[in-house]
Amino acid sequence: MSSNQESGIHFELASVENAEMIADLMHLVQNASVNKDFYVVSSPSRVKWKLETNSFAYLAKDGDRTVGFYIFEMPGLDRNENLGYDINLPDEELKRVLCMDSVAVLPEYRGQGLQRKMAEMGEEEGLRRGYDIFMATADPRNTPSVRNFLSSGYDIVLVKENYYSKGIPRALFLKRADGKKMEYPSASDGVVLD
Ligand SMILES: CC(C)(COP(=O)(O)OP(=O)(O)OC[C@H]1O[C@@H](n2cnc3c(N)ncnc32)[C@H](O)[C@@H]1OP(=O)(O)O)[C@@H](O)C(=O)NCCC(=O)NCCS
Repeated sequence: MSSNQESGIHFELASVENAEMIADLMHLVQNASVNKDFYVVSSPSRVKWKLETNSFAYLAKDGDRTVGFYIFEMPGLDRNENLGYDINLPDEELKRVLCMDSVAVLPEYRGQGLQRKMAEMGEEEGLRRGYDIFMATADPRNTPSVRNFLSSGYDIVLVKENYYSKGIPRALFLKRADGKKMEYPSASDGVVLD
């Protein structure tokens, strides 16, 4: 389908049959993580549900071996899934949100830009399907993922705790194909320290 000439990695669109393998990879990567807060994983049935209903995914492959994946969700007006509700997007824009959902790369395949490459492919496919507002969350301490979003043109539009679990922070990232930027309402009258 598409390939990264230097590394020999190629990319394929995932099918529903890949759901269990993707969920296994999620757990493997989470177990290998130094900070388990960083990566929120899903059950095989949730991955299957997504691929059957509202998502597509790319696999990064080294020969037959899947070494990374990226799931992209088109949540529509589903309040539990659409990150756009957190920044009060109007319904017309909520319908255009593509959630850059779950991404992981095996430790020995990191440092080759695979998250960024798959994100580009997902954004392109999203645009083709009519989704031009890209949103994601990452733990603000997850430097590789944060760097990847920032260098791909995403902005942090919100940071809050308790997205997925109590006391764990998540930064909300946004990039719009129309280039429109957020305006941030002020939470104070301006702080002055004595
Ligand atoms: C997030 C993930 C997919 C990124 O893998 P990748 O695409 O290979 O990204 P890289 O390892 O090249 O890292 C991206 C950048 O962070 C830098 N980086 C990597 N580890 C770092 C560290 N510990 N400290 C500081 N910078 C680091 C890299 O040098 C690179 O810098 P650049 O922007 O100058 O190119 C991979 O780390 C992963 O699978 N993590 C576990 C799952 C996860 O956290 N998923 C994301 C949830 S939001």
